Amino acid sequence: MTTQRLGVIMNGVTGRMGLNQHLIRSILAIRDRGGVVLKNGDRVMPDPILVGRDAGKVEGLAKRFNVPRWTTDLDGALADQNDTLFFDAATTQARPQLLTQAINAGKHVYCEKPIATNLEEALAVVKLANARGIKHGTVQDKLFLPGLKKLAFLRDSGFFGRMLSVRGEFGYWVFEGDWQEAQRPSWNYRTEDGGGIILDMICHWRYVLDNLFGEVESISCFGTTDIPERWDEKNRKYKATADDSAYATFRLNGGVIAHINMSWATRVYRDDLVTFQVDGTHGSAVAGLTDCMIQARQATPRPVWNPDEKRTHDFYADWQSVPENTTYDNGFKEQWEMFIRHVCEDAPYKYTLLEGAKGVQLVECALQSWKERRWIDVSPLKA
Ligand SMILES: NC(=O)c1ccc[n+]([C@@H]2O[C@H](COP(=O)([O-])OP(=O)(O)OC[C@H]3O[C@@H](n4cnc5c(N)ncnc54)[C@H](O)[C@@H]3O)[C@@H](O)[C@H]2O)c1
Repeated sequence: MTTQRLGVIMNGVTGRMGLNQHLIRSILAIRDRGGVVLKNGDRVMPDPILVGRDAGKVEGLAKRFNVPRWTTDLDGALADQNDTLFFDAATTQARPQLLTQAINAGKHVYCEKPIATNLEEALAVVKLANARGIKHGTVQDKLFLPGLKKLAFLRDSGFFGRMLSVRGEFGYWVFEGDWQEAQRPSWNYRTEDGGGIILDMICHWRYVLDNLFGEVESISCFGTTDIPERWDEKNRKYKATADDSAYATFRLNGGVIAHINMSWATRVYRDDLVTFQVDGTHGSAVAGLTDCMIQARQATPRPVWNPDEKRTHDFYADWQSVPENTTYDNGFKEQWEMFIRHVCEDAPYKYTLLEGAKGVQLVECALQSWKERRWIDVSPLKA
């Protein structure tokens, strides 16, 4: 049994996602557990080099987490033949250019979503990656949430019978930033900087719907900017130009109708920050990030509409919890491990840049639907 090294150039690790999910909970966690085990028993140990614009910040991170290698020279890092994988979690707008640079340097690439802010750039990167024959992938983390894994498990068991509809509620209040610090970066609320809830979330819903309930065939979407002024990281007031709430309906292959509300201007009165209710002829399920409740056809009570009497029935008590019969790892880490196996032993990997481009395609369809106030069909996407 041998241990091979995998040099990983990590860009954007001073950001929220890059630091928490990718550096700490994925790459460093994989290192702590002795690397990724391949089929033949060999191990792959990722050896990251942290890349960023601000030397002080990157060096500080490297020291804090005992990562020996860091740089502000991206070109230099890409020129090093010993580091074969490039990862990006910096801002979305810069991503296609960075991926292009890395692919042209012969690197395998892995990145956060969305892979671009528009379909043209997304497809150009997919084409280049395929032409160069490098391995590529993008984050599709929601599929790895325990709650959504439980939905897939129920679907595979035939629990739902004929699936009818999916209702998604996503959102929470993001503070404006004046008297309480905002919990998300300010660029998220400026269209000109790659912000907007449609761009941010519809690309997630594409792979969630495609993989769990049926491929998206058409979309109707309406967006709003509910909070027009916010305060940034330096406490400066700015105009929030991007949509911060959206309401989208999707028609899926196979006949399922999905509707998802998404908002950064809503207060949570539900079991989780995102919930999906799936109704089928034989059973229904409601999943959050981790938990999933079910009600089978045979256990469905007979509700009677009677507004003249105060409700006494506890509807929540009619549901049963899907048990934790397995353990769930961090989804970002699990996906990193899959991608590392894809790079090192050619293991199959479904979540390619083309899948990422499909997300961007649906974003464009959603924006077009909002602008033109009509349903938009989603055409099959090929590289
Ligand atoms: N998978 C998910 O659930 C999820 C959640 C949130 C964000 N994201 C995605 O992750 C990415 C980063 O989002 P975030 O919330 O971590 O943002 P963030 O603002 O916290 O981090 C952005 C990072 O990019 C760097 N950066 C900014 N401008 C840059 C530039 N011009 N050149 C190079 N680096 C630059 C910043 O220094 C920082 O390291 C976005 O693409 C976003 O869509 C994904």
